[in-house]
Amino acid sequence: MIFSPAGLSTDVFYHLLNQAIIPRPIAWVITRNPNQTYNLAPFSYFNGVASEPPIIMISVGWKDDSTRKDTWVNIDEREDFVVHIPPAEMAELVLGSSQALPFGVSETDHLKIKTAVVEGEKLPRLVGPKAALFCKKHKIIEVGEDRQGLILGEVKKLWMDDAAVKNQGEKILIDPQIINPLSRLGGNEYSLLGKVSSLRRSKPPI
Ligand SMILES: Cc1cc2nc3c(=O)[nH]c(=O)nc-3n(C[C@H](O)[C@H](O)[C@H](O)COP(=O)(O)O)c2cc1C
Repeated sequence: MIFSPAGLSTDVFYHLLNQAIIPRPIAWVITRNPNQTYNLAPFSYFNGVASEPPIIMISVGWKDDSTRKDTWVNIDEREDFVVHIPPAEMAELVLGSSQALPFGVSETDHLKIKTAVVEGEKLPRLVGPKAALFCKKHKIIEVGEDRQGLILGEVKKLWMDDAAVKNQGEKILIDPQIINPLSRLGGNEYSLLGKVSSLRRSKPPI
């Protein structure tokens, strides 16, 4: 079957795409509100996009009242943000943090999620996730007719829970089972990590 955006409404095609591009990693993002509290929200339009310097992207939309989502405003104005990889056991909190609260009201306080200080960082990390990427705004590009905010952030520091770091030898190995990421499928469906397979390429990996 072939689906074309030309023959379907924007919403219908968006839902189809979200069911095709699966599983999607989730960025659980802390930013600072103007009143110094923390804003927290999940974004599944998220990935790494460049290595030198290391850059990730999240794609953030608009609120129903036609203002930019709080995460976008905060990154634009204060630049720092922290992306966590949410563990499956925090799924309910991830969903809870996607509720729109009035601008400046802290989701971390509202959901009673603890934070921890990371040395040298202005923003804290969440307690619970095993990986946190400390990022600084690189560039924000408005994409498409609905002007979705493609937020590019340079990763300045990667915090990993010691328990997830398996090998400190020549190659540092991270145990995906310890990170235990929650991923998004279409609609209300989510996926867990499941079986991990190790596949070898005939040539050394690039
Ligand atoms: C798992 C999950 C993934 C989401 N992914 C996105 C996304 O990629 N882009 C987006 O604009 N909103 C996404 N949302 C909705 C936002 O989390 C929601 O609009 C939130 O209230 C934004 O918060 P903020 O205004 O504090 O930034 C997602 C929600 C959930 C539950």
